[in-house]
Amino acid sequence: MSNLAVIGAQWGDEGKGKIVDLVSLHFDIVARYQGGHNAGHTVVIEGKTYILQLIPSGMFRGGKIGIIGNGVVIEPNALLTEIKKMEAAGFRFEGRLHISDRAHLILPHHRWREKESEKIQNIGTTLRGIGPTYEDKSARRGMRVCDLMQSNFADRLLPMYKGNAEGEEFLEQVPKFRAEFSKYACNCSSFLAEAIRNEKRLLFEGAQATMLDVDHGTYPFVTSSSCAAGGISTGLGIGPKHIHKVLGVSKAYATRVGSGPFPSELTDLTGDKIRNRGKEFGSITGRPRRCGWLDLVALKYATQISGMDALCITKLDILDEFDEIAAGVEYDLDGEKIHEFPASYEAVERCSVHLRKFPGWKSNTYGLKKLDNFPLNARKYLDFIEDYLQVPVAMLSTSPERDDTIFFPAFDTICENSTQRTQSAQS
Ligand code: IMO
Ligand code: MG
Repeated sequence: MSNLAVIGAQWGDEGKGKIVDLVSLHFDIVARYQGGHNAGHTVVIEGKTYILQLIPSGMFRGGKIGIIGNGVVIEPNALLTEIKKMEAAGFRFEGRLHISDRAHLILPHHRWREKESEKIQNIGTTLRGIGPTYEDKSARRGMRVCDLMQSNFADRLLPMYKGNAEGEEFLEQVPKFRAEFSKYACNCSSFLAEAIRNEKRLLFEGAQATMLDVDHGTYPFVTSSSCAAGGISTGLGIGPKHIHKVLGVSKAYATRVGSGPFPSELTDLTGDKIRNRGKEFGSITGRPRRCGWLDLVALKYATQISGMDALCITKLDILDEFDEIAAGVEYDLDGEKIHEFPASYEAVERCSVHLRKFPGWKSNTYGLKKLDNFPLNARKYLDFIEDYLQVPVAMLSTSPERDDTIFFPAFDTICENSTQRTQSAQS
């Protein structure tokens, strides 16, 4: 029985939601281990689009259990609104969604603080209060789900919120939050330990991405959590030996939102073409995403940090009409050729990227489900990626729709018995 992690390999928005939903078929429990409602995970099922921020993307299939682990930060209204919206769409969560009683809460003052700090720091955050909540967690003054369950919760916040309309409105809602959260709160570590004893299969859903990881990403232009695979163990309270395989998700090109270095960024018409064809605008904030060619130096670094066993490539079809495709294969830093991603963001900003060019395939890959008629030049592009990274491509997503996906032999190595299970699920 092997467990699998699905993790962003770039700067977010790689299409993790679709992949988690798709592979959840082979798993019993889907667990989020970090981040908060800064995430926007889009899942399209039979033409209907759902955007999830906190609820694990693997919960669309009946009977799947969802976990929001202790490493996640939860804004109570954001979660309850999302649950309500999904319930209105016909999904039920009571009894199958579990929230860690140790997860930290995003409170109004975290958003207030972030508004101020962003004026100075200009990270280009989502302004959801993510950073200040993790700050308070590390400073040992955070408030957790278990605190919300205590009768003095509102009293502890009152001195700070008194006289502030938003703060007072929040306090009025505390009894409602408590009643709602008590339906879902539990010790998720114990829940998962029991599941593991019962040989349940676990799927770990990453939010944000490896290059936004607080330790390994383009610091300080990162999010405040451990998005890379290393965050799974602490973010869920399970031993690292239960993380068996890691699937990295990467677009066929690169995007990033917010500030920070992005060596392969295209600020020209090619970048605009990628943005328009790829509809690269934030799913939650609507911000236009910065676009560029695939950066294999950064991607190789990401595969190393999260120990990626295989990759899923998404949105290859966005490049279908290009005469020429390119990918970054090396950086030039102060006249020296380098293949390692530098630590300092100033150094990364000084890097110019050396591009390797590929002839375009100029034919349609959108919606393909099989390799029949797959264009040779597209195959060569994928082969080059595999060869450069020394990581096999296990999946190719060819549209936002669940079933528009091509599986490669490497998929069986990250998802044991998957062929058998897919067949039995379909019969
Ligand atoms: P998903 O899960 C893309 C970016 C923000 C900003 C930086 C810090 O959809 O891939 P934060 O509010 O987290 O403190 O902002 O991180 N960011 C994301 N970019 N996708 C995301 O999530 C992101 N979550 C945060 O734009 O640059
Ligand atoms: Mg996003």
